[in-house]
Amino acid sequence: MGSSSTDHDRPRRPKRLVVLVSGGGSNLQAIIDACAGEQLPAEVVAVVSNQADVFALQRADAAGVPAVHVGVHPGEERSDYDARLADVVAGFDPDLVVLAGWMRLLTMSFLGWFPHRVVNLHPALPGDLPGTRAIERAWDEAIAGTRTGTGVMVHLVPDEGVDDGPVLGTATVDIDTTAGFDAFAELVHATEHRLLVDTLTDLCTDTPDRTEVSA
Ligand code: GAR
Repeated sequence: MGSSSTDHDRPRRPKRLVVLVSGGGSNLQAIIDACAGEQLPAEVVAVVSNQADVFALQRADAAGVPAVHVGVHPGEERSDYDARLADVVAGFDPDLVVLAGWMRLLTMSFLGWFPHRVVNLHPALPGDLPGTRAIERAWDEAIAGTRTGTGVMVHLVPDEGVDDGPVLGTATVDIDTTAGFDAFAELVHATEHRLLVDTLTDLCTDTPDRTEVSA
């Protein structure tokens, strides 16, 4: 009698990614390209932005991915916005929620819906330069002579800490002040595109299908 098919034999389905953005979306593009090129065993099932008219939404459209703007209503409480956002994101049934240039703090009203499933990218090393303009601040410190390097990281987002949480991957970047800010920023972005795709590839390869876990 031949061996019967088991969960182990069954090919895994691509992981479902919902990517949250607030701006240009170069990291979103790196994810979309890696999925299309079959490096990343995943599918971007939606792109959600808190900002209207950002280029990231156009990138989603161009890739045939649903692009959703969830704007903040005037006077809306942060927790109410986050609950609305969670509702939209949950509607796409994500395996992972990827914050790729998402520039808004998320409260437990959102995070509580996706435990161990929210991944953030930040252009600095763990514990260094949390918040906005990390690339510019690293550059300013290098020009002032107080820093020679920086890096990028990808981490899980368990709670409301800013750019903080269990680290999934890091990469360092040297700062060459003779090359100019634009070259430095480009190097940081190229480094984050690589690290984000590599880390998501590991996560999507290692994470069992939810049906396997619950079976
Ligand atoms: C990236 O540098 C990302 O690391 C940063 O926003 C940029 C978005 O670029 N995120 C943060 O600073 C989070 N604190 P992109 O829109 O071209 O991907």
